[in-house]
Amino acid sequence: PAPGWSIDADVVVVGSGVAGLTAALRCTAAGLRTVVVTKALLDDGSTRWAQGGIAAALGEGDTPEQHLDDTLVAGAGLCDEQAVRALVTEGPDAVRRLIATGADFDRTDGGEIALTREGGHHRRRIAHAGGDATGAEISRALVEAIRDRGVHTIEHALVLDLLKDAEGRTAGVTLHVMGEGQHDGVGAVRAPAVILATGGMGQVFSATTNPAVSTGDGVALALRAGAEISDLEFVQFHPTVLFLGAGSEGQQPLVSEAVRGEGAHLVDADGVRFMLGQHELAELAPRDIVAKAITRRMQEQGAEHMYLDGRHFGAEMWEQRFPTILAACRAHGIDPVTEPIPVAPAAHYASGGVRTDLRGRATVPGLYACGEVACTGVHGANRLASNSLLEGLVFAERIADDITAHGPHREGLPVAEDGSTVLTLLGPEVRRDIQRTMTEGAGVLRSAGSLSDAADALEALRLDAEGERKAAEPGVDSWETTNLLCVARVLVAAAQEREETRGCHWREDRPDRDDAHWRRHLVVRLTSDRR
Ligand code: SIN
Repeated sequence: PAPGWSIDADVVVVGSGVAGLTAALRCTAAGLRTVVVTKALLDDGSTRWAQGGIAAALGEGDTPEQHLDDTLVAGAGLCDEQAVRALVTEGPDAVRRLIATGADFDRTDGGEIALTREGGHHRRRIAHAGGDATGAEISRALVEAIRDRGVHTIEHALVLDLLKDAEGRTAGVTLHVMGEGQHDGVGAVRAPAVILATGGMGQVFSATTNPAVSTGDGVALALRAGAEISDLEFVQFHPTVLFLGAGSEGQQPLVSEAVRGEGAHLVDADGVRFMLGQHELAELAPRDIVAKAITRRMQEQGAEHMYLDGRHFGAEMWEQRFPTILAACRAHGIDPVTEPIPVAPAAHYASGGVRTDLRGRATVPGLYACGEVACTGVHGANRLASNSLLEGLVFAERIADDITAHGPHREGLPVAEDGSTVLTLLGPEVRRDIQRTMTEGAGVLRSAGSLSDAADALEALRLDAEGERKAAEPGVDSWETTNLLCVARVLVAAAQEREETRGCHWREDRPDRDDAHWRRHLVVRLTSDRR
């Protein structure tokens, strides 16, 4: 459909988590006319669900260099060291600016920022808020700041496609807005700079810690726009997600790594602490190692889950330090004060995404990406715990500074004539088929056979939709399903191509890391006939 309305801006920010709102605040402060568009409500994204916290070298004796070392080790040889250096050196001040914006972090008795540990960190380095509600506090503070400063926001606005001018430069986005008064239906925000901050794609799997809105919309848009995407095969599975029964689907409750950081133990069906002897950091090994060890032990024991035992914390510590997790467990009939928590891995974080440089620039001029949707190079093959909120902050600021330094170039913005480049929208009934296919074939443990089955099943879904002309009505459900299929196909193709095991990409048939052939990134750019 052609856009029925259009507004002009200097910058349009797509998404409203830590990355999007930080970018929007900084662009606004620099005097740029900024519009934030978001698919649901301002605080409906993944940021609000972050528990453990935000990593930065804030503690006495800690240094950015040590944070860099831990990040590079977790990233299994694929981090971009310059990007990590930017992250860890600019991180502490970015967190202080977040505090100045209004985020209230937990403090020690002496008034210092309280710090905890998580997997892969050799020091206490994770700042947290509300015990285990860090993301909710960050989201609250940023949304409040956005409202205080009167930043133009449009909620219930699903982004469709990138607009480009005759030279192929970014010229804005088309949107489908539902029920928002003057900007209702398909419309466009015309702007020479577009910042994608749409978050992740956890919903491409059946069970995930991600909220329902995490459907890979930004990566799908970037693929359709001809931008480069990288590292999509590196999906991080969080090791400890509350086990709600085999076949549970949709968003699952996270049990933060910080619970292990404070001393909880992983035990198997016989009560044995199986991480001891597997890694020098035991339960606090990097996330990929813990997720693999859990999966292996589940296979060995024929168990559907393992246990996280924090009974020794006692009731007071559970209530004060982990109120969110305690409430979630109790809501599902588990009391962590008196019993071990059943846990299993679930899809958690996309380490790859829209490929950017150190300024957050994607490969289409004028297009930027930050936060989970981006692949800045800081995560490599496996993100270090609690580096994601930090990445959102640091790279959002870098993007805002880059746009400010170069000024918005407005000449030649075309009138938005076409609402979408997608010809066949998939019906929402296909969503579960995609998710089950991905969990079965491209989940925590993969092989050439499982990936090939997944690729065939996804192709059949596409052909079915196109061949039988089942084009669905435009709407959030059909767009999300279409985007899920788009990112699932690229993810599976990358996982097939990478014939080794590295970081969170675990190939049963290629169990070793192969630096001679695979210490490199898989970069995808769809040509116009494949979009
Ligand atoms: C957690 O709290 O375990 C999540 C931290 C993260 O994903 O970085």
